[in-house]
Amino acid sequence: MTRLSGPVQRFRGAVTLADRTRVLRQKPVTIWLTGLSGAGKSTIAFELERQLVEQGHACYVLDGDNVRHGLGNDLGFDPHDRHENIRRVAHVAQLMNDAGLIVITALISPMQADRAMARDIIGAGNFIETYLSASVATCARRDPKGLYAKALAGEIPAFTGVSAPYEKPLDPELVIDTATLTPSESVGGIFDYLREHSLAVAA
Ligand code: ADX
Repeated sequence: MTRLSGPVQRFRGAVTLADRTRVLRQKPVTIWLTGLSGAGKSTIAFELERQLVEQGHACYVLDGDNVRHGLGNDLGFDPHDRHENIRRVAHVAQLMNDAGLIVITALISPMQADRAMARDIIGAGNFIETYLSASVATCARRDPKGLYAKALAGEIPAFTGVSAPYEKPLDPELVIDTATLTPSESVGGIFDYLREHSLAVAA
């Protein structure tokens, strides 16, 4: 729902994205990690961020569990609230890209339509949808936060992969099989993509 009412016009400053790109020496993109809870999104996002910063890049992780403490602290996990969570994070990512930063998001983002919305908000040319493809069985076996055990016992309603859907990406830029790869190999796979597309300096 859009509630922008009354005359609100955009004001453009003198600094352009080209200026920011020149200063920061990088193309600002959003690496949108999607996958089940326990697929490795946060681990991979923060390790990727660490390595990018080590190489001189300016980047920032927007992690689902973290942003839900502030930006999304009024949101739960029904489809409407997940949609709103993803919409807000996508707009923040777009603003950060506009500021010249490389953004890594780590949200389950289970629905194809919501990821398509994020791609629209951020801009298709800047959006690298990265599917961390570990299955429910693998993630439930790992269960790093003990949430699958609770969800399977019926203690967490609408838990993704157990009692709420996860729609696999139809045409992601990148698929990383985190069931068989270590976190460091997974990050390596993302770096391969970034280098192939001239988006990061050599690791
Ligand atoms: S999303 O669906 O809106 O993209 P998001 O990534 O922000 O989800 O949050 C997922 C995190 O919230 C999980 O890693 C888990 O720790 C926690 N969580 C709590 N309840 C649920 C639930 N019902 N389904 C999925 N994750 C949940």
